[in-house]
Amino acid sequence: MNFKNRDIISINDFSKQELLYILKVAKSMEKNPNPDLLKDKVLATLFFEPSTRTRLSFISAMEQLNGKVMGFTNIETTSVKKGESLWDTIKMVEAYSDSIAIRHPLEGAARLAAEASCKPVINAGDGANQHPTQTMLDLYTIQKVKGKLDNLSIGFLGDLKYGRTVHSLTIALSHFNPKFYFIAPAALQMPQTYLDELKEKKIKFVTESNLLKVSKKLDILYDTRIQKERFPDPVEYEKYKGVYKLDMSLLPHIKKDLKIMHPLPRVGEIDPSLDETDHAVYFEQAANGIPVRKALLVLVLGKVK
Ligand code: CP
Repeated sequence: MNFKNRDIISINDFSKQELLYILKVAKSMEKNPNPDLLKDKVLATLFFEPSTRTRLSFISAMEQLNGKVMGFTNIETTSVKKGESLWDTIKMVEAYSDSIAIRHPLEGAARLAAEASCKPVINAGDGANQHPTQTMLDLYTIQKVKGKLDNLSIGFLGDLKYGRTVHSLTIALSHFNPKFYFIAPAALQMPQTYLDELKEKKIKFVTESNLLKVSKKLDILYDTRIQKERFPDPVEYEKYKGVYKLDMSLLPHIKKDLKIMHPLPRVGEIDPSLDETDHAVYFEQAANGIPVRKALLVLVLGKVK
C-alpha cells in the first residue's frame, strides 16, 4: 500500500483494506506521539467555508508533529476577491507548501484542486458532496466504541439530502455488511443515486421518517444538522429546521448500548442533557480527528509507509 503523494478527495477512491490500514496508522498515532515526524513539512489550509473541527484539528495534528501550517479562512483577504481562479490559487499554494487541505462550497472543487496541484490535496468538505476525512474519523470512532465495524445497524437522522458526512460514511460502511436506516422527512431523504448504489451492492436499507419506529433496532444513531446554507429557499429550511430533537425521552426507545454520533456543529437537534449519558460519543468523535488526520498527513507526506 502506498499513500505517498496521494490525494484524498472521495471515499470511493479507497478500498476496504486501505481504510482499515489508515485506522491502524491512526491508532499508532494515538499511542505514540512521534513529535518530529513532520518537522520539515508545511500544510496549507484553504477554507472557503466556515469550519471549527476540521480546520483546527488539521492544524493541531500538524503542529503536534512539529509541522507548520499556513492558509486562510476568509477569501476577503485573498486575491480570489480580485477574480483569481481556483486553479491559479492552487498553483500558487502548491509552491508554498507540501500538502493542501481545502474546504469549498462547490462540489468537485477539491477534485479540481487535485488536478491543479502536484502536491497531495485533501478534501476537507466540498459542498453537499463528500467529507472523506470526517468519514475516516467516524469509522475510527465506531471501531473504538463498538469494538468492530462489521454487521452493525446504523441509523442516519436529519438532513440526509445535503449532509456530505452521511454520503461519505454510507459508502465507507458499505464494505462492512451494514443495515442502514435512513430517517428523514421525504424532502431530505438520501439522494436516489446513493440508494441505487446500495441496491447494486445488495446492502440492506430502510427509509423512514419516524425515528421511534426503528430506534430500538439501532447500534449507532448518526444524527446530523439541517444544513441551512445548502437550502436554495429559506422558507423550506424554516419548515424542517426543528424536525428532530433528541433528548432524554428517547432513552426508553433505544438499545442500552446505542451510541449517538454527530459530526457537529449541533444547532438544537441534540439536547445537552444527553451529553453525560453513555450514549453520547460526539465529542469523543470530534477529538478522534487528531489521530486520524495525523495518520493521513504522515501517509500522504511519505513519512509512514
Ligand atoms: N464536522 C465538521 O466538519 O465540523 P466543522 O464544520 O466545524 O469543520
